[in-house]
Amino acid sequence: MRFLFLCSMLLLGTVKAQFPYLNNKTRDFLVNGSAIPNVTWDIGESYAGYLAKDVVESTSLYFWFFPSSNPKASDEITIWLNGGPGCSSLMGLMLENGPFLWQPGTYQPVPNPFSWTNLTNVIYVDQPGGTGFSLGPSSVVSEFDVARQFMSFWRRFIKTFDLQGRKIYLTGESYAGQYIPYIASAMLDKKDETYFNVAGVQINDPYINEMNILRDVPALAAVNHHTSLFPFNNTFKTALTTLADDCGYTSLLHASLQYPQNARLPPVPTDPGCSIHTLVTTAISEINPCFNPYHILSSCPTPWNPVGGPIVGAGPTNYFNRSDVQKAINAYPTDFFVCKTGIFPTPNGLDTSPPSSLGPLASVIERTNNTIIAHGSLDFELLVNGTLMSIQNMTWNGRQGFERRPTEGLFVPYRAGAGGGTLGTAHTERGLTFSEVFMSGHEIPQYVPGAAYRQLEFLLGRIDSLSKEAKDFTA
Ligand SMILES: *[C@@H]1O[C@H](CO)[C@@H](O)[C@H](O)[C@H]1NC(C)=O
Ligand SMILES: *[C@@H]1O[C@H](CO)[C@@H](O)[C@H](O)[C@H]1NC(C)=O
Ligand SMILES: *[C@@H]1O[C@H](CO)[C@@H](O)[C@H](O)[C@H]1NC(C)=O
Ligand SMILES: *[C@@H]1O[C@H](CO)[C@@H](O)[C@H](O)[C@H]1NC(C)=O
Ligand SMILES: *[C@@H]1O[C@H](CO)[C@@H](O)[C@H](O)[C@H]1NC(C)=O
Ligand SMILES: *[C@@H]1O[C@H](CO)[C@@H](O)[C@H](O)[C@H]1NC(C)=O
Ligand SMILES: *[C@@H]1O[C@H](CO)[C@@H](O)[C@H](O)[C@H]1NC(C)=O
Ligand SMILES: *[C@@H]1O[C@H](CO)[C@@H](O)[C@H](O)[C@H]1NC(C)=O
Ligand SMILES: *[C@@H]1O[C@H](CO)[C@@H](O)[C@H](O)[C@H]1NC(C)=O
Repeated sequence: MRFLFLCSMLLLGTVKAQFPYLNNKTRDFLVNGSAIPNVTWDIGESYAGYLAKDVVESTSLYFWFFPSSNPKASDEITIWLNGGPGCSSLMGLMLENGPFLWQPGTYQPVPNPFSWTNLTNVIYVDQPGGTGFSLGPSSVVSEFDVARQFMSFWRRFIKTFDLQGRKIYLTGESYAGQYIPYIASAMLDKKDETYFNVAGVQINDPYINEMNILRDVPALAAVNHHTSLFPFNNTFKTALTTLADDCGYTSLLHASLQYPQNARLPPVPTDPGCSIHTLVTTAISEINPCFNPYHILSSCPTPWNPVGGPIVGAGPTNYFNRSDVQKAINAYPTDFFVCKTGIFPTPNGLDTSPPSSLGPLASVIERTNNTIIAHGSLDFELLVNGTLMSIQNMTWNGRQGFERRPTEGLFVPYRAGAGGGTLGTAHTERGLTFSEVFMSGHEIPQYVPGAAYRQLEFLLGRIDSLSKEAKDFTA
């Protein structure tokens, strides 16, 4: 079948021009861009499938690789990883930043004007093993296991597609805030520019600290910040305020968000009596039964989600579970579940490694001087103030935290039919950029694609400022 496919294209004599990556090593991975079910146009050159299984790993990671026709992309490759742990990166492809989008509540796939493949070569990887289309069962416990497994895949991927020496950008969201710093750090440790030439990382709405710091400590401030979206009665508000005070969270939040920050923050033990985030989500769900912690502006009805799954909303379909889809994208027949649990066999389902802001994140910033942490303002799954607290408690390039409050605007050029203007903040110190995105939920490329596209241009070094033409904010 595939051989015939190749021959018919050879006859057309256009193989090299249209398929620059096609050769006898990559042929088995070629995806027929006109044959993606429900996608009504040719998405162009892409490759998907599984590399030969690594002898020491029990898995084979599934990937889908989209070369870019952008001439500026010739010496680079960008990796996109979704989080979970256990969520397929095809979720990001189809809902966030891929060449075609089939987003919640919409009728059929449409071309994505902000596809990241416009800018660069992008590979989506289902990892760790057991996630999405990657073969299970999972065999990882720590982030060191995750990095080892990924790098084994990566070395073979580079060889297969002849990408030796390319600059590597690692991008992703949520639990990828844990995966990416560990993978990038392990890659940089190798000091091997042929295979592991890490040039920058971006983590959006990232899991980088203990859950109680990312959620419980900043929860009340977020409720007070977005009063019309959390319209609680006074009795409940008073109870929350008393609890936040008694748990020490009010004073800790205040102490954490100092610019400059000179005091190391204490550890915050998990206290079930201080689960303010859970109290808030339970209470708001009584008021707004369609409350979506990933995007607090959401109210009823909840749109159906073409990729299904428990986390991103229910739906009658599960696109990637269709056998015609699996066949078209070189995936083995799989009982596909967009977000699986149990990837890490631990009581809390998380890995056994320290959160990345207390682990390798600082050293990744120092060794790249090109790290972006972005966060959607309307995310209540992980909270923007929790991310800022984690940054302010981290020491990189010789100083703790940002010395100045992030207030510079994030400017997104105006485009017909898409959002533009000052759409958030963007602040850089000593190799770390923090960028809050207004009007965005947890998934920035989904909610404010122009901002995500702009941030990627900055990461890739195509523009030298995110703030030009933007207005500043007073915090
Ligand atoms: C693959 O192509 C290369 C040249 O591009 C050639 O040297 C090699 O023999 C080919 N291998 C196979 C298995 O066809
Ligand atoms: C690709 O898929 C389209 C639509 O199914 C089909 O018409 C075409 O023949 C396929 N191309 C090749 C080279 O197999
Ligand atoms: C998507 O494909 C399925 C299976 O071929 C088909 O039943 C459905 O009608 C398609 N949806 C749209 C909107 O074309
Ligand atoms: C992406 O590329 C397409 C096709 O060249 C173009 O229509 C679109 O405007 C580009 N998007 C951006 C954001 O530049
Ligand atoms: C973050 O914390 C600051 C300082 O306490 C507060 O002024 C701001 O409203 C908070 N923002 C959100 C979104 O919670
Ligand atoms: C602050 O960092 C120290 C380690 O440098 C860590 O022990 C502590 O848990 C952190 N606290 C917070 C609130 O992040
Ligand atoms: C106040 O809000 C809480 C939490 O939503 C709710 O349980 C309680 O019944 C409310 N009280 C009144 C008097 O409405
Ligand atoms: C995937 O499809 C199979 C039938 O092909 C079905 O048995 C299974 O329940 C589906 N899985 C999910 C998660 O929808
Ligand atoms: C990163 O930037 C710092 C200044 O903030 C500089 O001292 C350091 O040498 C740079 N590191 C690299 C790897 O470029």
